[in-house]
Amino acid sequence: MTTAVLVNLAYLVAAVLFIFGLKGLTHPKSAVRGNLMGAVGMLIAIVVTLLNEQILSYGLIVTGLLVGAAIGIILALSIKMTAMPQLVGLFNGFGGIASVLVAGAVLFQVMMSAAGAGVVEAGLQFTIATVASGLIGAVTFLGSLIAFGKLQGIVTEKPVRYPGEQVVKVLILLAALAVGVYLVMNPALTEYYWILVALGALLGIVLVIPIGGADMPIVIALLNSYSGLAAAATGFVLSNSILIISGSLVGASGIILTTIMCKAMNRSLANVLFGGVGAVQQSAQMDDIYEGKIKQTSADEVAMILKTAQRVVIVPGYGMAVARAQTPVRMLTESMEADGIEVEFGIHPVAGRMPGHMNVLLAEEDISYDKLREMDQINPSFPQTDVTIVLGANDVVNPQAREAADSPIAGMPILNVDKSRTVVVIKRSLSPGFAGIPNPLFAADNTLMLFGDGKKVMEELVAEYKEA
Ligand code: TAP
Repeated sequence: MTTAVLVNLAYLVAAVLFIFGLKGLTHPKSAVRGNLMGAVGMLIAIVVTLLNEQILSYGLIVTGLLVGAAIGIILALSIKMTAMPQLVGLFNGFGGIASVLVAGAVLFQVMMSAAGAGVVEAGLQFTIATVASGLIGAVTFLGSLIAFGKLQGIVTEKPVRYPGEQVVKVLILLAALAVGVYLVMNPALTEYYWILVALGALLGIVLVIPIGGADMPIVIALLNSYSGLAAAATGFVLSNSILIISGSLVGASGIILTTIMCKAMNRSLANVLFGGVGAVQQSAQMDDIYEGKIKQTSADEVAMILKTAQRVVIVPGYGMAVARAQTPVRMLTESMEADGIEVEFGIHPVAGRMPGHMNVLLAEEDISYDKLREMDQINPSFPQTDVTIVLGANDVVNPQAREAADSPIAGMPILNVDKSRTVVVIKRSLSPGFAGIPNPLFAADNTLMLFGDGKKVMEELVAEYKEA
């Protein structure tokens, strides 16, 4: 068997592992195994690629591997769970710039040796793929840096809008496409590659800067998809099948995630990209909604209410993640179940700050997946629920989404916790959530507010429940 056949066989094994790895990631029970399969696939792909006979020296490659691995380990160990979306955003950006640099380097190398030989021979697949790589990679890189900056508070989180915004985007896109076509026809004019990359970078900025607020996670998922497309294009530049396959898998899964998130927020992708959620005016003021209607409660009072309940639903949100309150959540769940109370969790698809955020936190505590109910499953059961505990969630339980057409979250499907007999909301104050809007749930007749840090309050609740 020749080396080329062996390499391709190894790539095939890696590709199969990627696909089964992704399949595993679709369910929490198989997610760890899926992750492992993907990692083994990646290891095989890297090792086999390093065996390439065209590699003459390993010094730079090993240095790059060591530096990259060190940065990766430090980031993975130090990053807070709540900062995960911007980290993912940054990684997408690195993927984008890697595609730009690799495709550019190959173009320059091919053109230099062609010039030396006196003939310029570059196939159409090569030049088109190089242009695609450079353009999509540059959009991904700068777009991701802006997204990172927004989520990290370095760039304003608010949507930056200006007159003629859409025209500017279209003009930059047309200019980039024109330069791209010119480069495909004249690949020897390599300086045009950098003009293309510069236009792509500009496009990345103008595409992401007008987006803000609750739409940022969708943009991160979309940029993830772009980074996959850029990598797939680079795969065509290098004629490397595993890069084409893995890039396509990232591109496809990124766009599927984008669609799922758009659906969960009742937004179309076009609306996210060109609409701007912050542009809608919020008419209802906090005072009008809350004044004189907030009923405060205490941990011992809630413990007594829970004692008499038959069915309790816990709805976690971003505040549970911030407070790291999942341990007392598990303890309270166990205590209630020991008393014969049915306990379930209502998980909104965009609760927290990243897809699956709540599932991950609850899984850390070994809370059984069978108790976690998705929005469509749990919503019909709220009228038969005695108590719903809303722990650090806000936007995902805000009835304004159903009722106020002028609300920035209008039409977003929510967990209908207000239909429960009693709702207990645990948070530190009446401050709004991610979307920055008041929540009429806090002022509803059947709602009791239990103010305080999520973890501290839950610990008190566990203690009071045991004594009640
Ligand atoms: P949010 O609407 O953001 O509300 C979280 C609430 O947690 C806040 O109102 C805050 O109120 C409370 N909180 C913060 N720290 C707390 C602590 N230590 N103890 C107790 N409470 C605390 O959260 P949500 O309901 O989970 O909704 C998620 C939002 O984020 C949606 O708008 C969604 O679109 C957006 N988003 C989602 C994602 C994904 S993919 N999941 C990514 C980015 C953005 P206090 O300050 O009064 O305590």
